Amino acid sequence: SDSQSFAGKTVLITAGPTYEAIDPVRFIGNHSSGKMGFAIAEAAAARGAQVILISGPTSLQTGHERIQLIRITSAQEMYDQVFRFYDTVDVAIASAAVADYAPANVAAQKIKKSDSHLTIELIKNPDILAEMGLRKNNQFLVGFALETENEEENARGKLERKNLDMIVLNSLSDAGAGFGKDTNLVKFITSDGITEFGLKSKQAVAADILEFVQQGTLK
Ligand code: PMT
Repeated sequence: SDSQSFAGKTVLITAGPTYEAIDPVRFIGNHSSGKMGFAIAEAAAARGAQVILISGPTSLQTGHERIQLIRITSAQEMYDQVFRFYDTVDVAIASAAVADYAPANVAAQKIKKSDSHLTIELIKNPDILAEMGLRKNNQFLVGFALETENEEENARGKLERKNLDMIVLNSLSDAGAGFGKDTNLVKFITSDGITEFGLKSKQAVAADILEFVQQGTLK
């Protein structure tokens, strides 16, 4: 794994959650810790890649000299950063848990409590991965799918609709997998078929992903 199999390659990775502001003190977010995406970034850099890591809010740090870490907050900011670089990268891996919706209006002041209920109108965020699929020229494009039902069918749908080369399916119903954990249980889906793995550390899952990407890009 310290072979420099990605030397000369640039890998773009999205990681972590996005936060969508409601007012100056509140947001809509999710439980992604960034661990999966940071593990992929470290593994790619260790294999010689130049890494652009675009991450939502997380306490994680990275010290690797070949990882350029760009911290963003919202889905729109992640979108803007991804497309600053996308045209020039060899591989893109979307492990971020991007909010699909954002408040239509961000209140300028903290919203005051009142006696009645409060409704927040949400508008759709851009689908960053779908846009990467549309704009694909030579990138090897990897998506993630976090499903709670009809998992393989939904993941295959995303593979096709978003024009991906591979999708990493992880399930919220598996113990030890998904948000925040140090381990993950994944299946890789390509147009050739499906490969299942056992429960392992996110570092080991990252190594498996890069192994697959390397084989895929050699084709
Ligand atoms: O960060 P950790 O705590 O380590 O947890 C890791 C993880 C569970 C977040 C990660 O393994 C994972 O599954 N990430 C994708 C989660 C997700 O939002 O999946 P999705 O099925 O909603 O989205 C499908 C794909 O489209 C993903 O690659 C996602 O990054 C991308 N997407 C989704 C919506 C959107 N607006 N833009 C996107 O790019």
